[in-house]
Amino acid sequence: MSGEQKGGLEDVVVSTSGICFIDGNEGRLVYRGYDVNELVERSSFEEVVFLLWHGDLPSRNALAAHTRALTSTANRRLPPKLIDILRALPRRTAPMDVLRTGVSVLAAFDPDGGDNSRDATLRKSIRLTAQLPTLVAAWERVRRGRPPVTPTPRLGLAGNFLYMLSGKTPTALAVKTFDVGLILHADHEFNASTFAARVTAATMSDVHSAITSAIGALRGPLHGGANEQVMRMVEQIRTPERAEDWIRKALADKARVMGFGHRVYRVEDPRARHLRRLAGELGRQVGDTGAVEILDTVARVVSADKHLHPNVDLYSGAAYASMGIPTDQFTPIFAISRVAGWTAHVMEQHGNNRLIRPRADYTGPTRLSYVPADRR
Ligand code: ACO
Repeated sequence: MSGEQKGGLEDVVVSTSGICFIDGNEGRLVYRGYDVNELVERSSFEEVVFLLWHGDLPSRNALAAHTRALTSTANRRLPPKLIDILRALPRRTAPMDVLRTGVSVLAAFDPDGGDNSRDATLRKSIRLTAQLPTLVAAWERVRRGRPPVTPTPRLGLAGNFLYMLSGKTPTALAVKTFDVGLILHADHEFNASTFAARVTAATMSDVHSAITSAIGALRGPLHGGANEQVMRMVEQIRTPERAEDWIRKALADKARVMGFGHRVYRVEDPRARHLRRLAGELGRQVGDTGAVEILDTVARVVSADKHLHPNVDLYSGAAYASMGIPTDQFTPIFAISRVAGWTAHVMEQHGNNRLIRPRADYTGPTRLSYVPADRR
């Protein structure tokens, strides 16, 4: 790398943005000026989506209209031909593959396809945010050989998603926990998937293409895929009594422990604290606190030995597991929330666009003479 660059665009500021602020030293996360801790206490995911898209909290009437749009069956419903495509996929297909494919298919059916105006992109963003939970839940049903559950307009995004997974009305604590999880994952400045969305949007491509790029970037275990890997670790550890020896051995073997460390936070990720508390409450409700106890021990050892703090992915999976959600659906659930931030960033990028096109520090030869194939 040339000059002072540390690789991975670390600390490189690529653009201005008015959507999300992170103070990595203080452990603060702010959406459009509002501390996420306050939003978790007082807001709903639907309201946070409005905040991210429109720049401020809605009036009562504006929130009602926005919530109606996000919860209407017309916006939530999947095209029947997309359900046919889901049924044609091998049942072992990873949910993130299904999500990426599904968003591409949704583009083909979207009535505003091809229109990249702000109004059309907002309408498409409403539909995407309303449709993604239906898509994730429909795949869960289809791969189990069961019919998808029709979304119900009487439940908000969190409650309806849990309802569409099981066909049963979820408990109030499950809905609250899921809603808080959605708020906490809704945006995070120029993380890898959001940056991927912005790079795509900056070619003046459409929002469905940008979200497809973002889903691909979110999937990797260094980003959104970490929450699944945390649960795989819990499954390997099996009991709280085995946790300390297991993690000490992993650290001695120089393993990268999923759910710890962050490019921006130098202290604990503020999102982890909420998810730890909610995972504990849900665990107690369903009578199984084993996963949280395992993670607490792992966190104690990793913090003491490596000075690494938990990130958002450490406790989210334990909460979802207590709701009966399979591990490979954790990253798609992350996407159900982050689509709010991705689409806000696409609209911001389109509103003040310049092509994102960095340079490489080329390290290869530059003046080789061509050698014909028979003389190589
Ligand atoms: N476990 C063990 N060691 C770690 C971890 C970890 N989770 N994270 C960082 N380190 C160590 C590295 O080994 C490295 O040590 P070294 O300097 O002795 O080689 C040092 O800390 C710096 O690590 P980098 O990978 O260079 O830091 P970077 O900023 O690139 O990585 C990342 C950030 C990818 C999040 C990293 O901490 C990691 O891999 N964490 C585990 C995966 C994870 O939980 N990802 C989710 C992040 S939150 C999100 O995206 C939603």
